[in-house]
Amino acid sequence: MNSDTLEGRAVLLGITGGIAAYKSASLCRLFVKAGAHVQVVMSRAACEFITPLTLQTLSGREVHVDMFGRSVKGVEHIDLADDAELFVVAPATADYLARAATGRASDLISAVTLAFTKQVLAAPAMNTNMWNNPATRRNLDTLAASHGWNFVQPGSGELACGWSGQGRMAEPEEILEAASALFSADLRGRAVLVTAGPTVEDIDPVRFLSNRSSGKMGYAVAAAAARRGAEVILVSGPTALPCPAGVRRVDVRSALEMQRAVDENIAEVDAVVMCAAVADYRPAKVAPHKLKKQRGEDERIIELVRNPDILAGLGARFADAPSRPVLAGFALETKDLERAAQKKLAAKGADIIVANLAADGFAKDDNAALILGRDGARRDTGRVSKRQLAEVILDEIKSRFPANP
Ligand code: CTP
Repeated sequence: MNSDTLEGRAVLLGITGGIAAYKSASLCRLFVKAGAHVQVVMSRAACEFITPLTLQTLSGREVHVDMFGRSVKGVEHIDLADDAELFVVAPATADYLARAATGRASDLISAVTLAFTKQVLAAPAMNTNMWNNPATRRNLDTLAASHGWNFVQPGSGELACGWSGQGRMAEPEEILEAASALFSADLRGRAVLVTAGPTVEDIDPVRFLSNRSSGKMGYAVAAAAARRGAEVILVSGPTALPCPAGVRRVDVRSALEMQRAVDENIAEVDAVVMCAAVADYRPAKVAPHKLKKQRGEDERIIELVRNPDILAGLGARFADAPSRPVLAGFALETKDLERAAQKKLAAKGADIIVANLAADGFAKDDNAALILGRDGARRDTGRVSKRQLAEVILDEIKSRFPANP
């Protein structure tokens, strides 16, 4: 694990009231070990699960709980917010997230949250039904999209409440890693173009051909690249996802529009990550009016024509170029993963191909990938969150950049 970037950093660790609070002691210890200065703030409910004394001993600093406690300098919640570079909330309960999303300042940790202006990293933990509740989803979307929060997604498994499903707080090591990544701006000075989501190929004004890509992988890559300091252009097909903080999104619909947006920006970028599930074919004609069924017509044939292969086009265009962006593609397969990925690597002229099985990653929050490089590299990631996979892909891209930006 690379936690060097935490050395000397001021981290405010917020703990709210869930059973996962016991893991926050390890997290605090990990931050301290990594050289961070840790200040802990706890909600009253968190103190039911773990004592402030434990955190005080581990952090070496007085733990703050109450709104009207003593402040050394002045106004306690403002001082706590001002003094930290990063606010890590772990566990972040459903109620805390609701308060944060609606700007409540009803207790110290909420008031600190409202006054905090820098990066926030939250590790939600709750019962799986609470996690899936539309209210929680909305709050998470609001915090990610409008407040620019970063999340370490909860894992799946058996929960303390007896239910099984997503909701278990990420492990302290994963949270530390995510915090560390927020400080490392190792892609500063680089520009990265990411494509994401499906393309939509219209048949008539109300019908289309598309696929089930959620866009999650591409959005995770865009968010991670922005966090690491890159300038990011996200060319996105229609998805339900909010634009990640610090990312410029160009919305497109069809493969042809996506190709145009890529072409318009390609000269500016150091890397292209083609996560989009581009439709290989589009209807030969888009009917100007809604197609009507015809009497006696039992079969309707829609003529399709090939879409351009955007990635292969870039591969061919830069094949002999003295300087070229690093080209990363995906290979989504349902069988023969490695063989198909090797073929795509060669056929598309890409520098790396991230291969995954539809059953492993499609529309999910995690994935398992095999990364193959034109230089013969081979890296099996095992099952990881899409956020972690995004970091790995960016590491692979970074290692292929020419020496200086
Ligand atoms: N891709 C592209 N343009 C297309 C089709 C795919 O740029 N018209 C890119 C994708 O974004 C991805 C890679 O090529 O990075 C592989 O996409 P995939 O759908 O797995 O493969 P295809 O090339 O479409 O091959 P097939 O459908 O035959 O498996």
